[in-house]
Amino acid sequence: MDKKKVVKIVIAVVLLALAVGLVGGIAGGNIMYHLKNRGELGPLTRSDIAYKNAQAPAATSKDGTINASDWSAVYPEIALTMGQNAVNSYITSYLEQDPYLVNIYQGFGFAKEYGSARGHEYTLEDVYATARPHALANCLTCKTPNFAKMVNDKGVGVYSMDFNTVYAQMEESVSCYTCHGNDAGNGGKITITHSYVNKALGNNASSIDPATLSCGQCHIEYYFTPSDKETMMPYSSVETMTPEAILAYYDSFDFYDWIQPGTGTKLLKAQHPEMETFLYGKHGKLLNCADCHMAVEMTYDGTVYHSHNLESPLDNPTLLSTCATCHGDTDMAAVVRKIQSRVTARETEVGNKLSDLKDALTAAVSSGKFSEKTLDQVRKLHREAQWFFDFCYVENAEGAHNSDLAYRCLDTADEKIDQAMAILKN
Ligand code: HEC
Ligand code: HEC
Ligand code: HEC
Ligand code: HEC
Repeated sequence: MDKKKVVKIVIAVVLLALAVGLVGGIAGGNIMYHLKNRGELGPLTRSDIAYKNAQAPAATSKDGTINASDWSAVYPEIALTMGQNAVNSYITSYLEQDPYLVNIYQGFGFAKEYGSARGHEYTLEDVYATARPHALANCLTCKTPNFAKMVNDKGVGVYSMDFNTVYAQMEESVSCYTCHGNDAGNGGKITITHSYVNKALGNNASSIDPATLSCGQCHIEYYFTPSDKETMMPYSSVETMTPEAILAYYDSFDFYDWIQPGTGTKLLKAQHPEMETFLYGKHGKLLNCADCHMAVEMTYDGTVYHSHNLESPLDNPTLLSTCATCHGDTDMAAVVRKIQSRVTARETEVGNKLSDLKDALTAAVSSGKFSEKTLDQVRKLHREAQWFFDFCYVENAEGAHNSDLAYRCLDTADEKIDQAMAILKN
């Protein structure tokens, strides 16, 4: 068991103890509990929710976004569970865990610091604290509703403003406005507030379930446009969300995130393509993100709602019990763990080979023995191999969302590394 798990369990036990204490203290209080099962009826589902309309409260924020505490009088269970996104506060350093990363990301911020994701409540704190450089405000895109609001009010010029100036005006981490606008009272209707989503996808956005697209505002691959430094998705439809199509798109205008010192390769840094990976997976047309990450729960007064604590389905018995609808009594946690350990082992293998290629190319460049044409041939393979490796590595489910795609990416990277090495050995 890793350290992160131990921390999570300790926190869970403490919370449970607190909850038990509270239930004893405030009899009949509005405290939610996980309904593990209802006998023959199985777990609660979305169809048990009474989607009701409510008058929006007045906004107390400076920018007019209705924040979580404003909504807490209307939807106490939702505001409370959203606050539980603070429970996972642990960060694993990927650079310590997988030292080859420091070499392959050399020359880019990720070689300085790269830690695992933690709960949504920490987004503002973490973006401020990162050792990676952030000169521009566009780093705030996926951290706070106040930034989305600022873009919506003032236009794309906001992306290239000074980071610290804009940061000082931010009020909340990911919150109600992010996924509902100020319209949560409209039966919890999803509103896409990150303008680049509709800009990139246009009418094709409607082919994606809103409950998935709400997460896809951030859990995606993106880039900053060279002209405005605007955050942008590198595709226009679900069909063009594959790693192959995205690479072709970046190639079409010679886009790169950095030129690596030593190798001279124009490298790309993939972000966290959860939505792309999920949509192409076995569940892509069957489920949405909320189905597996937002448990349907009930309060003591009988209100059924989506928990807004975004958990791993392996950590939450209610979520895990929903798998049985289709998977029967197969132990799905074990299935997932098995996929993840195979994918992770393959990542380590390919990651180390990529690191060797980077060293071999660096040596080849400084040796003066190769023509610029040959070096460019190798650099192209290096760029492609790293892209495919990264597309898998940075996806946070480690194969659980789509094991076929994970292997395809790693196998492609592996082949390209072999081709590049073969050229350098000649
Ligand atoms: C990260 C995105 C996200 C954030 C942040 C978020 N919601 Fe939701 N919300 C959802 C999704 C997804 C659903 C489920 C929609 C569906 O069933 O199609 C939902 C459902 C709802 C519903 C409908 C009832 C239910 O339980 O399904 C209400 C009401 C609601 N949210 C209110 C809020 C409020 C108030 C906040 C802030 C305290 C908030 N939401 C924050 C994504 C979000
Ligand atoms: C506004 C951008 C944004 C949106 C929208 C968003 N997320 Fe996130 N999410 C993040 C960021 C940023 C992190 C990493 C936070 C950190 O480490 O500080 C994260 C982390 C997570 C994590 C990891 C939490 C942990 O404890 O390890 C999960 C799970 C997650 N998000 C699920 C979702 C789901 C499901 C949705 C849609 C209902 C969603 N997110 C919508 C930005 C977003
Ligand atoms: C079929 C269920 C399922 C669906 C649907 C699903 N996921 Fe996941 N997700 C998982 C599993 C399983 C894991 C691995 C959890 C673990 O390792 O504990 C995971 C992991 C994650 C993580 C990493 C969590 C962590 O703790 O590090 C994020 C972020 C995430 N999913 C986001 C999403 C988003 C965004 C969507 C929709 C685009 C989505 N998921 C759809 C099952 C699902
Ligand atoms: C609506 C039905 C449905 C639900 C609910 C469902 N699954 Fe699946 N799942 C499928 C189908 C269909 C497949 C593909 C089966 C196959 O190809 O053999 C699949 C495949 C998988 C795979 C293999 C995916 C891969 O890429 O290798 C995993 C892992 C998985 N499911 C985990 C889960 C977990 C965990 C849950 C609950 C949190 C869950 N599923 C809920 C229908 C479902």
